[in-house]
Amino acid sequence: MSEPCTPTDDVVVEVEHLVKCYGTGPVVVDDVSFQVRRGRTTALVGESGAGKSTIGAILSGLASATSGRAVVCGEDRSVAARSARDRSRRGRQLQLVPQDPYTTLDPTQRVGAALLEAAALRGVPRDQRPARVAELLDLVGLGEAHADLVPRSLSGGQRQRVAIARALATRPEVLVLDEAVSALDVSVQAQVLNVLNRLQRDLGTAYLFVTHDLGVVRQIAHDVVVLRAGQVVEAGTVDAVLGDPQHEYTQLLLASTPRPGWVPVAR
Ligand SMILES: Nc1ncnc2c1ncn2[C@@H]1O[C@H](COP(=O)(O)OP(=O)(O)OP(=O)(O)O)[C@@H](O)[C@H]1O
Ligand SMILES: [Mg+2]
Repeated sequence: MSEPCTPTDDVVVEVEHLVKCYGTGPVVVDDVSFQVRRGRTTALVGESGAGKSTIGAILSGLASATSGRAVVCGEDRSVAARSARDRSRRGRQLQLVPQDPYTTLDPTQRVGAALLEAAALRGVPRDQRPARVAELLDLVGLGEAHADLVPRSLSGGQRQRVAIARALATRPEVLVLDEAVSALDVSVQAQVLNVLNRLQRDLGTAYLFVTHDLGVVRQIAHDVVVLRAGQVVEAGTVDAVLGDPQHEYTQLLLASTPRPGWVPVAR
């Protein structure tokens, strides 16, 4: 078993006054605070360049914070992991499905081998790994035939699903999904969202779900954080924020989202 968060901990991700500047550049994450609760989904929405992926990168250890805290399962991730053991523990606590899976999938490694490796990292006994790989492929709607392919032989949506399957292989406490379903057509998107909802119900996995699609937010999230130019402009439950947005930026986002009865503004 991995080291789970303390069972009584309701909050599995706590971002507090997080600030990020890349090098000597401008502030791209500007005093951001929010939480992700156990077994719940927090959506992070906002325009391109708002700082969403940067927050995911800090939580997963791919980027450092300039100041503030990014606490996952009680451990501050703005402090770099000191050892391979620390990194491995952090990997079992939180996994990132990156916006561009090309950046993390090994281009020479076949899908099946990548998933076998992930299952091994999770401590699945050797003889049970092939069954786990088949189960993971099935979860995200891929077949055994895909196991023999390398990433460049897959479509963008298939690659995205491999990245999700690989992240799920470690059964993390927290999954950060960065636009993970955005490239999928609606039927596969619905299938993946159903899988994520089911896993949350069965395993209590918490999700930080980065998306620009407010329709998806309604389907999957409990809480939502609206980010603009690195700052939180509005946050709360999905019902409250999308049902009665207080900030004009949230109102603008909602007004530009197609939904039943939506009429495009005439040009
Ligand atoms: N490695 C980097 N070095 C320098 N600047 C960066 C780096 N990564 C991101 N930025 C800058 O930080 C800002 C926030 O980028 P980020 O990728 O977090 O935005 P985002 O909200 O994920 O946008 P999108 O919706 O387009 O994915 C942008 O202005 C971007 O140019
Ligand atoms: Mg991004």
